[in-house]
Amino acid sequence: MEMSRTDLRIAEIIKSLSVANQVESRIQREVQVVSAPGRVNLIGEHVDYNDGIVLPMAIDRGVLVGSARREDDQITAVSLDLNTESQRVTTNRYGAESGGPSWGAFLSASVRAAIRLGADVPGLDLALTSTLPMGAGLSSSAALTVALILSLCSASGIEPDPRELALAAQTAEIEAVGVPVGNMDQLASTLGVEGHALRIDCRDLSVTPIAIPDSLAVLVVHSGISRALESSAYAERRAACEEVSARLGYKSLRDARADEVADNRYAKHVVSEIARVDSFIDALNKNDLAGIGSILSAGHASLRDDFDVSLPAIDTLVDLLVKHGAVGARLTGAGFGGCVVALTPIAEVREIAKAATDEYEHLTENKAQAFAVTASAGAHRVQ
Ligand code: GLA
Repeated sequence: MEMSRTDLRIAEIIKSLSVANQVESRIQREVQVVSAPGRVNLIGEHVDYNDGIVLPMAIDRGVLVGSARREDDQITAVSLDLNTESQRVTTNRYGAESGGPSWGAFLSASVRAAIRLGADVPGLDLALTSTLPMGAGLSSSAALTVALILSLCSASGIEPDPRELALAAQTAEIEAVGVPVGNMDQLASTLGVEGHALRIDCRDLSVTPIAIPDSLAVLVVHSGISRALESSAYAERRAACEEVSARLGYKSLRDARADEVADNRYAKHVVSEIARVDSFIDALNKNDLAGIGSILSAGHASLRDDFDVSLPAIDTLVDLLVKHGAVGARLTGAGFGGCVVALTPIAEVREIAKAATDEYEHLTENKAQAFAVTASAGAHRVQ
């Protein structure tokens, strides 16, 4: 039987860990493997840190982390995807900061997060591999921290509650990257449900799975423009939203009405976007294609004109997807590059992707990458 892409990656992880450091004695070590998905957000952008409502789905691409016990109290991690100079990082069982490649900060912050969840972390060798494009707006950082923390907990014999795991991963990402991200990506990664998007209320963390109609494909198109969350204006936008809600005397913009924020375009986006999420769910439930399309377009226009996180090339890509037959399309993720998400009739997904990306490349000289994704289960142990 042919092995799937994930099975091949798992085999690579096991090969790299089972004899590492033990070549002399040839003792086979027991290897545990966990998987954490990335996510694509269908609608509800830049509202999670305003206590809003979002509609992401966990996707069939993510991060796999394998672990095997060491005899000392070091924790090493090797990336099977990076080149040899940046591939290995080390910390100790308390998550002390380590020198070396910058992604070591994710490891040490994840160790500290696992300890806060109650893990008594032993010495471990970890091996990582990812099927997500980095910096594309598909939550590669959230998938990495969720997978690392779950792996550390699992190796310590504890099984964290998915919501607690998500919040621990959010804290770890904020520590590692220094950007005050919200909780959507991590909740999507730990709570994903096959075949469903997740309506998440980011205030009370309640989650309702929303079925994606069988007739629709979810197409992700990477604009070819990489996005670096650290260098983006993310923190600035967040601070601006908090300032408006404080001025209005609210805990967050979730409580504000449209007429109260008409004079501030960032807040106007947030309030209108929160309202769009339930209208979109309504349209999805009724299979109302015109409604789905117009809400996605309105969401994109609001990110472009009010929240100001799009780019001309991304606007072009959104327009081309609709021109070539998508039901609707919008920028997904934090913005300033990264991916567009489109819903298309399932039978036409390939042709639409090809026509739109060909014309996009011709018009903008960026190289696009399109792939259909399916809604997947949240982070779990696979081996
Ligand atoms: C990034 C952050 C999320 C969220 C989105 C925008 O992905 O990590 O918390 O704010 O941007 O919706």
